[in-house]
Amino acid sequence: MPEKFYITTPLYYINATPHIGHSYTNIAADVLARFHRQLGEDVYFLTGTDEHGQKIAKSAQDAGESEKVFADKMASVYIELWKSLDISYDDFIRTSEERHTLAVKNVLNTLYKNKDIYLESYEGWYCVPCETFWTDLQVQGAGLCPECLRPVERLSEKNFFFKLSKYQGWLTEYIKKHRDFIKPVSRYNEVLSFLELNKLNDLCISRPRARLGWGIDIPFSREHVTYVWFDALINYISAVGFGYNEAKFKRYWPADLHLIGKDILRQHAIYWPIILRALDLEPPKMIFAHGWWMTGQDKISKSRGNVIDPLKLVKEYGIDVYRYFLLRDIPFGLDGNFSDQAIIKRKNSDLANDLGNLVHRTITMVEKYFAGILPQMRELKPSKLKDSNDNLIDEVRMAMERIDFTTALDKIWLVINQANKFIEETKPWNLLKEKRAGEMDSFILLLVEVVRNVSLSISNFMPSSAKMIQEQFSATVIKKGIPLFPRT
Ligand code: ME8
Repeated sequence: MPEKFYITTPLYYINATPHIGHSYTNIAADVLARFHRQLGEDVYFLTGTDEHGQKIAKSAQDAGESEKVFADKMASVYIELWKSLDISYDDFIRTSEERHTLAVKNVLNTLYKNKDIYLESYEGWYCVPCETFWTDLQVQGAGLCPECLRPVERLSEKNFFFKLSKYQGWLTEYIKKHRDFIKPVSRYNEVLSFLELNKLNDLCISRPRARLGWGIDIPFSREHVTYVWFDALINYISAVGFGYNEAKFKRYWPADLHLIGKDILRQHAIYWPIILRALDLEPPKMIFAHGWWMTGQDKISKSRGNVIDPLKLVKEYGIDVYRYFLLRDIPFGLDGNFSDQAIIKRKNSDLANDLGNLVHRTITMVEKYFAGILPQMRELKPSKLKDSNDNLIDEVRMAMERIDFTTALDKIWLVINQANKFIEETKPWNLLKEKRAGEMDSFILLLVEVVRNVSLSISNFMPSSAKMIQEQFSATVIKKGIPLFPRT
């Protein structure tokens, strides 16, 4: 049986339409899923929507619709977007589905039975958009949420709590022993020092039904529904059969990679492993938290009103250009600024100029000098380009295994640029004039080999462009197709 690779994205809130940031995570996850499929692994790529909670109830109300109708409509917006961006997910989970709600109730019952959940009165500050309680200290007299800077409300209510604090020592030790558990290392250090410097509070995991009905029922209380974050995290096990398909669950859990943005690190690196520990389940193998797309000093987000629509960019520049740009322009893990100029520059220089030209020139020469038919394969003449080309697949693989997209792409572009230079320096028309047919054959075969290797290496990033290149080069008589990346 092939090795499995189970990769997840966050489940996105459906209170608003997706923006560039959401597409970033899903494109990155898609590239990794395709890469692991290319290695022959049995990939399970999960994405989906987070549909409960107060802010979604409010959005539905504002739209004059029931939560269910609103959720169906918004989930399909995400599904359509992923289709437009060539996202090859294997499963799309909605937290309103039965397989999920049953799993959540199952988890709640187990934790309650084990006395890891208890009921207590609670008073604190609450931020509706973040669905989070804050203490006086955190709100600091300003009356604003420390995360999103919007006004908080004072709430006093009886709720269920999950004993996070009981497992703090265990988690700290676990993280210390597993250096690859949280990536990149800056985020690893952040979580570890947080745990070393702070005492964890138990997690409030319910909301009174009277205040918020739109959630999963708490099976042991008529008066409460489940807190949306507690509900949502469980998707990573409910999707792969927890509680209803033992064989599937055994096959895929623990997840190999939870890919998230750094805004939701605490929930994934602290709450989630502890919930799993309390259930006697293994933690995920790795949590990778990437950085943010910004405009100026601000994170791109709905609440800041600076969102950028992925579909607009795709229409303007093309799917593959968009996918390439997002993963090439900022090292994965760091923040970066979005601008139209940056995407246009990448398109014109890396794609139209470097890659587009290499493909175009190679194919033109096959047509012009060989009437579209490649010479018989023979030993290629040794050269620096041949060496780089021979190493390319391994170099790309090593970078991809580290989830370092920029380096993988840099390596590919080094070979592309080297090949363009090789054409200029070899001057094939001279080889022909001087009747050095053997060298001419070797020259063109090496270039075709480079184009093949390059198209294989970019295929995870730019699936349809890679396919177009491969189709052009696999015809019996090789012929030019339409230009891959017309300049903007
Ligand atoms: O947090 N740059 O959902 P969400 C990069 N439902 N990535 C960004 C981004 C930006 N400016 N803005 C958003 C939730 N993202 C919860 C998750 S998981 C069990 C529940 C991406 O709709 C990034 O992946 O607010 C971030 O973590 C996610 O969208 C947040 O999506």
